[in-house]
Amino acid sequence: MSARNPIAIFDSGVGGLSVAREIRRLLPYEDILYFADSAYCPYGTKPPEEILSRSATICRFLVGQGAKILVVACNTASVAGLDRLRDFFKIPIVGMEPAVKPAAAATRNGRIGVLATGVTLNGDRFGILLSKFASGIDVYTQPCPGLVELVEAGKMNGPEIEEMLNTYLLPLLDHGVDTVVLGCTHYPFLRQVIQEKAGPGINIIDTGEAVARQVHRVLRENNLLNDSVIPGKEIFFTSGDPELVGRIIARILGKGEINIEKVVLT
Ligand code: DGL
Repeated sequence: MSARNPIAIFDSGVGGLSVAREIRRLLPYEDILYFADSAYCPYGTKPPEEILSRSATICRFLVGQGAKILVVACNTASVAGLDRLRDFFKIPIVGMEPAVKPAAAATRNGRIGVLATGVTLNGDRFGILLSKFASGIDVYTQPCPGLVELVEAGKMNGPEIEEMLNTYLLPLLDHGVDTVVLGCTHYPFLRQVIQEKAGPGINIIDTGEAVARQVHRVLRENNLLNDSVIPGKEIFFTSGDPELVGRIIARILGKGEINIEKVVLT
């Protein structure tokens, strides 16, 4: 495996871009492949076995494209089967988990809230996370069906987002949480609205930057850091409508145009 090979990142849709942008910031000379599984989005309401099998199919495709490392930029897919993916593939894999540990360290009143998908919150990995890092902390969890679909449609603010956040965020605030974990990679795009609704005294935590640091660490340990001095390029793939998905990706990344290809994986 050459250090010149790309980093490959995937998510059910555009959410993983909240991780990809941090990886790009930290590793400007790496080439990046990004797969948005938009035709199968959302993952958060599907059975974990189905999510795992879909994730394995995408990883196989990305390995075929020369990936030197796989980043599962999706909490739901990580909960559904990160360990199994690590058994299937020989290259390093970095996954996600809701930031319970940093939230437990940051809270002043011992109450934290976690916004995530139902699959993430019901998964064994999340239970383990709580027992490891949140003993003595009151953790209030909230699945958010429908929120991912709005982000996928390019809606990051406005009345529909406001209404859904009233339903999902306000009950956590009513419990008196002072720290809110964004446990789904789509939610950092709503960070501003969430912060405004929660108020300035509430910590909002996501894991994009920490995951980028972990990718850097794993590449360094495996001698896979690209020593190129030419800014890296990005190639996007989607199982959905490339025009629509490409438009939203370009908007999120603040780019005029992106290179996107439709891929049908079965
Ligand atoms: N962005 C994903 C996550 O971090 C999944 C959202 C979904 O497809 O339901 O969980």
